[in-house]
Amino acid sequence: MYNSSSRLDSTTVDRSERQYNFSAGPATLPEEVLQEAKDELPVYDHVGASVMEISHRSPAYDKIEESAREHLRALLDLGDDWHILFLQGGASMQFHQVPLNFLPEDGVADYVVTGRWGTKAVKEARLLGDVHIAASSEDDDFRSVPDVADWDLSDDAAYVHITTNETVNGNQMTDDPVLEVPVVTDASSEFLGRPMDLEGYGLVYAGAQKNLGPAGVTVVLVHEDFLQRRTQPLPTMLDYGTHAERRFNTPPVFPIYMVEKVTRWLRERGGVDAIHAINQRKAAKLYDRIDQNDFYQGTVAPADRSIMNVTFRLHDPDLEPVFLKQAEQRGLMSLKGHRSVGGIRASLYNAMPEAGVDALVSFMDAFEVAHR
Ligand SMILES: Cc1ncc(COP(=O)(O)O)c(C=O)c1O
Repeated sequence: MYNSSSRLDSTTVDRSERQYNFSAGPATLPEEVLQEAKDELPVYDHVGASVMEISHRSPAYDKIEESAREHLRALLDLGDDWHILFLQGGASMQFHQVPLNFLPEDGVADYVVTGRWGTKAVKEARLLGDVHIAASSEDDDFRSVPDVADWDLSDDAAYVHITTNETVNGNQMTDDPVLEVPVVTDASSEFLGRPMDLEGYGLVYAGAQKNLGPAGVTVVLVHEDFLQRRTQPLPTMLDYGTHAERRFNTPPVFPIYMVEKVTRWLRERGGVDAIHAINQRKAAKLYDRIDQNDFYQGTVAPADRSIMNVTFRLHDPDLEPVFLKQAEQRGLMSLKGHRSVGGIRASLYNAMPEAGVDALVSFMDAFEVAHR
């Protein structure tokens, strides 16, 4: 149950109850899913043990993994030419694994840099080969996303790496690019939050701990044609082919079990189109409030604003710690912007109820009246 004491006239909340959690990740999960997992925790589905205690080669676990894949295929309308992998090492491992597999020694990869995570991806790729920055909004403090028509793409890139939603900077690409070469995206903070047109992609990766489940698993979609382009030999664990072919080693069983539940939850709610409409509405409510006057100031150019991570400042930076403290006291938790950029960030992933955004907007109204 969400805490009813998050009303504006309250100054303390009961932290033994759930709050509205705006964390960028690990992030809020659907409460129904948490309850179901709680009920099943000691004994999973008549197997006599917890899901965390059974073999990853047991029929019960097989069923969980198959079901998670089936939900993902249905949600994204994925054909059989896409492999769905459940890997470890976080999205950060993908920064290394992508160039390790796909950037040949004598080749080049194009990177479009729109924020902190894309910058990190470039750093790792440069350890392995030649990287060309096709576009970057760094000079603009990542307040915008360069238009695809302006990307300076190489003629012969092995792939083009983008970050479709930059979690820290709060920007998001609105279109999925279709280019001459396969596109790889870090979709960690928007995966399943909007419909994706997969036509131009060779690989999509997403750490689970935002829109999909707990930390510990990274979902990787890799197209069969792109997979066949990988260099050889590769360390077995870091070769996407290993995981596309078989269950090579012990997977992160519990996070995958949770991904199965979260993706089922999403299908039961109408799938990606339905949640996208809700996500757009939630983000619009918050941006409308921010744009009402200059008390609050959005940090990203309106056309490039993320519907998942809403970043803003207060007109007086000294008020920001006060805002954050009072928000916490009213049951609106984890609104602090990333330590590298400061300010406020409200992450509105799929599991954030619309009522949470309404509560935040009401708090912002009241805070403005008190501090204008
Ligand atoms: C877009 C994006 N990429 C990569 C990462 C890093 O993910 P991980 O901590 O799973 O390595 C994050 C984490 O917040 C992220 O938001």
